[in-house]
Amino acid sequence: MTPRERIVAWLRASAAPLSGEELARRLGCSRAAVWKHVAALRGLGYRIEARHAQGYALASAPDRLGPAELAPHLVGRWRDVRWLAETDSTQRVARELARDGAAEGTVVIAEAQSAGRGRLGRTWHSPRGVNLYCSIVLRPALPPAAVPQVALVAGVAVAAALAETAGCTPRIKWPNDVLVDGRKVAGVLTEMEAEVERVQHVILGIGVNLNAAQRAFPPELRDRATSLFLATGRKVDRAAVTGRLLAALEARYGRFLEGGFEAVRPEWESYSCLTGTDVRVASPDGEVAGRVLGLDADGALRVARPDGTSTRIIAGEVTLRV
Ligand code: BTN
Repeated sequence: MTPRERIVAWLRASAAPLSGEELARRLGCSRAAVWKHVAALRGLGYRIEARHAQGYALASAPDRLGPAELAPHLVGRWRDVRWLAETDSTQRVARELARDGAAEGTVVIAEAQSAGRGRLGRTWHSPRGVNLYCSIVLRPALPPAAVPQVALVAGVAVAAALAETAGCTPRIKWPNDVLVDGRKVAGVLTEMEAEVERVQHVILGIGVNLNAAQRAFPPELRDRATSLFLATGRKVDRAAVTGRLLAALEARYGRFLEGGFEAVRPEWESYSCLTGTDVRVASPDGEVAGRVLGLDADGALRVARPDGTSTRIIAGEVTLRV
């Protein structure tokens, strides 16, 4: 964390005001330097009161997903959060950090993306300051073929975190679209760099529509996408939801690394909106129509064809047949 982020985190954690002298001692700098940091933070929207003979107190903080805002909510391996006011895509930033050796668990979060990316070459609409856009560096000891399972694990974590924090009933549409009321509220994108048998890194990208209002979506998305706010009528604390999501991911990712996808599959199935339904799947091997039987142990979708045979879908786009 930067000195400013540390000041915010200390003020937030302290029940009593903290003196300039105390902050200077903790940072190992002068009181004048502390004063400059406090002035800069006020310029960024933090209301920091200077109480006579007591010190500084944090009266309010801007709605932002920076390290200082997330610090009270973070558990597990996601300690290194890099916050950006805006970027093209957090996937690009995280990939460059990973190439430079960033450790597993490094999290890149942006308030807005100018070129957010979705699955299958789509764009991810990323308006400023209302949602979550994050990309996480992972370094699992896995063969490349197992990486799609990481995306399934992340989908479960997102669904679980939304159920816990927003009290809604999320469903997962294979492979990892998270839906509320039949509309997409979150998506997961995994990208990797790998050798033939070993993954170098996976960039796990998660986008969740949190407080976006209807007008924040372009007209063509309005009947297919939603946000937690639109679904529940209540604004969420973005930092708290992000913390819950990372905690939910920590639990499922840990289980997955220890026990393989089988350790997460029952929970994935519990959120699935497809099992037992008639679908059409556009996959690289052509189109398949049939009834979804469930997930195979490796995360492939098992579909029963009308002729009684069944097939495995490893990658593709599912449409419900109505
Ligand atoms: C999907 O198509 O469902 C996947 C959407 C993934 C969007 C997230 S937002 C954070 C990260 N950065 C990106 O450019 N994309 C992912």
